[in-house]
Amino acid sequence: LEKVVLSPLQKHIIRRSFGGITQHSDQIAQLFYARLFDAYPHLRTLFPAAMEVQGQKLMQMLAMCVIYLDNETQLGHTVAALGARHVEYGVRDEDYQAVGEALLWSISQVMGGSITPDIRDAWQTLYDLLAHMAINGARAHRDAAGK
Ligand code: HEM
Repeated sequence: LEKVVLSPLQKHIIRRSFGGITQHSDQIAQLFYARLFDAYPHLRTLFPAAMEVQGQKLMQMLAMCVIYLDNETQLGHTVAALGARHVEYGVRDEDYQAVGEALLWSISQVMGGSITPDIRDAWQTLYDLLAHMAINGARAHRDAAGK
C-alpha cells in the first residue's frame, strides 16, 4: 500500500471545515448509507437491519480522527484496531473504496456550494489515510489469525 500523507495545509482545512460538516452529521449519515447501498447493494447484508445508530458511530469516529490529526502514531493504532474489527464484520479491503466514494459524495451534497476543491481534496486524503491504516490493521489481523 502506498503511504498517504496529509499536508499541514490540509490538516488546517480539515479542522476549519469540520464544524460545518458536523452540523449536518445526521443528514450526511443518511445520504451516505442510501448512496452506499444504492451503488453497492451487496454491502447492505453486512449491516444490521436498523441503521440509526450506525451513522452516529461513523461520524463520531471521524470526529475522533480529526482530534488525532497531529498524532499519527495514536491515530494509526486506533484505526488499525478498527480495521481488525472490520474483518470480523465481513468487510473486505476493496470495500473501503466504495465507502470512501459514498462518504465524499454525501459530504459534497450537504456542503453544496460551500465545498471548494481544496476542502474536498483534504477530506478525500484524510479518508484515504484512514482507509490505508484500517487495511493495514485488517491485514495484520488476518495474518495473525491465519485467515
Ligand atoms: C475508515 C473508514 C471507516 C470508519 C471510520 C468506520 C467506522 C465504524 C465504527 C466506529 C463502527 C462501530 C463498531 C466499531 O467501532 O468496531 C463500524 C462498524 C461497522 N462498519 Fe465501519 N468504518 C469504516 C469503514 C467501513 C467499511 C469500508 C465497511 C464496509 C462496508 C464498513 C462496515 C461496517 C460494518 C458492517 C459495521 C458493523 C455494523 C454492526 O454490525 O453493528 N465500515 N464502523
